[in-house]
Amino acid sequence: MITSLTQPVPLSDGNVIPGLGYGTFRMTPGEAAFYTKQAIDNGYRHIDCAWAYYNEEGVGQAIRECGVPRRELFLTCKVPTQYHGYHNVIWCLEDSLKRLRTEYADLLLVHWPLVSWITEPEAQKEDILDTWRAFEDLKKAGKVRSIGLSNFEKEHVELLLSEASEKPVLDQLQINPQCRQKPLTDFLKSKDIRIEGWASITRKKAFGEEILTDLAAKYGKSPAQICMRYVLQEGVLPLAKARSLDHLRQNMDLFDFELTPEEQERVATLEQKLGRFSTDGYTPRGPQTPQFGSY
Ligand SMILES: NC(=O)c1ccc[n+]([C@@H]2O[C@H](COP(=O)([O-])OP(=O)(O)OC[C@H]3O[C@@H](n4cnc5c(N)ncnc54)[C@H](OP(=O)(O)O)[C@@H]3O)[C@@H](O)[C@H]2O)c1
Repeated sequence: MITSLTQPVPLSDGNVIPGLGYGTFRMTPGEAAFYTKQAIDNGYRHIDCAWAYYNEEGVGQAIRECGVPRRELFLTCKVPTQYHGYHNVIWCLEDSLKRLRTEYADLLLVHWPLVSWITEPEAQKEDILDTWRAFEDLKKAGKVRSIGLSNFEKEHVELLLSEASEKPVLDQLQINPQCRQKPLTDFLKSKDIRIEGWASITRKKAFGEEILTDLAAKYGKSPAQICMRYVLQEGVLPLAKARSLDHLRQNMDLFDFELTPEEQERVATLEQKLGRFSTDGYTPRGPQTPQFGSY
């Protein structure tokens, strides 16, 4: 488990990722420029972007204006489902890098595994493999340092582990008190694939739950900090978005308290009570990531 904001966490390809990430979902380019710079000024070094957030220009402006050398920042980019397929991926990353005005991404993720208009299981598998081949080639070409996944379930990861040349270093999943996904995270850990948690503070949805407010009172922290700490103690790298300076600072102040194992389990009961939420707002999906053949 990480013990500081920027702790370098090893990835299976030999690279490292700074422990806590700053999220940029649902910001205009102007907001992304302002708030990403504010996050970097306050110590964040790991910024989570995506082509589908339509604000990479803003993130790029922040990284140019923040005064921190590019090599000290860690930028994650994601390829959305509409750009699956070898040539589309190559175009999409070029487009992201152009908007970000940077030469490379530190980490490139497949944003979602399945494309809604491909319904045959074999065609879905070929689509993922073809997409991944472009990821492998982009890594060889030095356009990205590491390659990974997002919202991939066990069967999607298993396909790559058995068929691909290069193993994914990370799977970015919804992980928070109402979405533990323990069978999947146990599987990923057994394969030495890091887990990053999106919406680590539940987009505030669980803040009123008694278990979170009780623990917040006990430790003198906020429900958001209890959520972040829970994610950390699951062995997952949390990602949160915060525009308010107070929220931003709270979300970094996680390292002077610890939930007991019993408290960790009590927080995890919110998964049964509330359950996972989706979608990412752009991809037309239900609350569960579809399995092969389920479209
Ligand atoms: N891979 C994927 O499919 C995927 C999907 C969704 C998200 N993500 C990534 O994960 C990041 C985080 O997820 P998210 O942005 O959806 O949700 P989130 O980080 O769980 O929630 C963000 C919301 O919580 C508020 N907040 C932040 N810190 C707070 C605090 N300490 N106290 C009270 N409220 C607080 C923010 O308010 P203010 O902004 O007003 O401070 C904002 O409204 C995204 O930004 C994105 O980078 C990835």
